[in-house]
Amino acid sequence: MIRFPDSPSVTRDPSRTPGAVRSSGALRRAALAALASLTLGACGGEPEQGIARGEALFDTCVPCHGADGAGNAALAAPAIAGLPQWYLEAQLENFQNARRGGHPQDTAGIRMKSMSWALDLEGDVQSVAEYVASMPPVAALNTLEGGDPAAGQASFQTCVACHGADGKGNEMMHGPPLVGQADWYLLAQLRKFKDGWRGTDPQDTWGATMRPNAMLLDEAAMENVVAYIRTLR
Ligand code: HEC
Ligand code: HEC
Repeated sequence: MIRFPDSPSVTRDPSRTPGAVRSSGALRRAALAALASLTLGACGGEPEQGIARGEALFDTCVPCHGADGAGNAALAAPAIAGLPQWYLEAQLENFQNARRGGHPQDTAGIRMKSMSWALDLEGDVQSVAEYVASMPPVAALNTLEGGDPAAGQASFQTCVACHGADGKGNEMMHGPPLVGQADWYLLAQLRKFKDGWRGTDPQDTWGATMRPNAMLLDEAAMENVVAYIRTLR
């Protein structure tokens, strides 16, 4: 059963131009329509889950995350190709349960939350996560300038325990890889953690371990640490 969720807060946000709202709504409708045809095409019975199903489901992600999964700054969609399966699953479940995208001002998170609801057959989340994790990682397009990487390197020492000295993540601590992710997205997420748009839901155990780290950083320190992460490979 496909739901067509609406996210009224997207259209209510005065900071977005009507044109941008229309185009993101159109994108979501296109993605949902693709998903509907995919599910109906299965013609009775549940589709078999697994990486092939995941590849088919990925068609619905392409309008925002790109065919290569490198993301799209204009749509606030991050790079997802090659992220670890455990992290992809955890985030898709976070969106489905509004542990992410639950704040009324978080328009980008709300958009992704609506999309996550379309993955509603048992095993859809795992299948699409398996496929996305198998995609070759593509370095996302950076858009920011400035920030002091040397100062950022110093504050990055507090991040190492959970994201690794190389920024490639730490599964045991549930810290995702940061390397290769777009700088604008990293900065946006740090702000969301700090402002309590992410990591505040009582059930978001792992987000709660990240939030205090963002709260220690002011805007300049965030820009500096992101400038340092940009230098990692
Ligand atoms: C309508 C546009 C849109 C579509 C379609 C879409 N996404 Fe997203 N996605 C986003 C946006 C915007 C974000 C960033 C949300 C935020 O800022 O918290 C996001 C974030 C994510 C994240 C979090 C990444 C991270 O590093 O934490 C994952 C995982 C993800 N999307 C997977 C998917 C998958 C899988 C699909 C297809 C089933 C999909 N998305 C379809 C817009 C979209
Ligand atoms: C105590 C462990 C811990 C420390 C220390 C930590 N993080 Fe995190 N971080 C996490 C976890 C866990 C997540 C994933 C949260 C979730 O599941 O939503 C995360 C997520 C993030 C994200 C979002 C990534 C994405 O793809 O959406 C960014 C950006 C980030 N951390 C940056 C940092 C920076 C920069 C530092 C150091 C200043 C830092 N973190 C320190 C645990 C930590």
